[in-house]
Amino acid sequence: MVASGTDPCTLSADMVPMHVTAAMDTVMEAAFYRHSVPVTFWKLMRWMNIGRERKLSGAEVVLRRFATDKINTRMASRSGTSSDILSHYINDPEYLDQDGEPGDLLRNTLINKMVALRDPIASALPWLIYNIATNPHALVGMRKELAPIAARKSNGGGTVIFGPEETGHLLYQRAALFESLRLYPPGLIEHKTALVDDVLPSGHKVHQGDNIFISVYSMGRMESLWGQDCRDFRPDRWITEDGSKLRHVPSYKFMPFNTGPRACIGKNIAVAQITAIAATIVWNFDVEVLEKCRVKPKLSVVLQMKNGLMVKVKKRASANASR
Ligand code: HEM
Repeated sequence: MVASGTDPCTLSADMVPMHVTAAMDTVMEAAFYRHSVPVTFWKLMRWMNIGRERKLSGAEVVLRRFATDKINTRMASRSGTSSDILSHYINDPEYLDQDGEPGDLLRNTLINKMVALRDPIASALPWLIYNIATNPHALVGMRKELAPIAARKSNGGGTVIFGPEETGHLLYQRAALFESLRLYPPGLIEHKTALVDDVLPSGHKVHQGDNIFISVYSMGRMESLWGQDCRDFRPDRWITEDGSKLRHVPSYKFMPFNTGPRACIGKNIAVAQITAIAATIVWNFDVEVLEKCRVKPKLSVVLQMKNGLMVKVKKRASANASR
């Protein structure tokens, strides 16, 4: 929705066709692969049109067709009032060619945004649910904070739906999300290239063109940064001792949203969306991770679960749902 203004309708028969979502997966896997082999290697594969590069070419064709279709539909009904990203680009002359028609830049930018926006939330949410389901103290903390809001919204035992405006500011919900992102950041690695020769704060010299990889995943699990219990899921570490506010944690220590001028501009939207969805699940259901489900990360640019998250979901009895 945010990228193209089209509702992917993932719960209905009109959802974005599977071959489009599969193509997005292929792009992410190929991007990861390109980071793990020498540039000459994947360029040779591309030239020979074999292996992952061949798959990637096929995915590019699918995504280009899909994006062109979305752009043409939007151009035809250009109202100038929509707030999705595509509408902004369509209204920006830089993204149109001399005849005012959409060019490669617009199409490629849309594909980039579709791929980049779909995955982080879809990655963060299952890890959060997994962490809550396997850490009863976190579940208790979240429900305790939600109880007064649920009591106000009480609808005679039906499902209580929390909105972003109700949960986005709640301390414990945010703390649980940040703690989950610390351990399972959707973007595992930050990749930067030095524009000029420079010296890093650590004293390391870098030369123009050098690639610098920062493992956000490892940083979230370093004792020197987070203490001896760095591997534990403990939302309380984010909250001040008197419980009145979130602790200040510098963005260069906690980097799932990156830091500096290219930090994520969608952070607040992501927090609002995820906390509302997680609160609704946690309040209304007991979620039990199946013993046979071996939760493992999948190698890709975005930290997904290799086998998905298999859970048993049980509606909480309305008698319990007041605490
Ligand atoms: C849990 C969810 C999310 C995470 C972990 C996340 C993480 C990130 C990270 C790490 C970057 C920097 C990439 C880089 O240049 O190295 C980024 C950039 C960006 N994010 Fe997010 N993101 C999330 C959700 C969103 C959402 C929901 C939106 C839009 C509504 C969004 C919009 C953007 C945009 C437009 C940029 C590019 C900013 C720029 O380059 O100036 N993100 N995000």
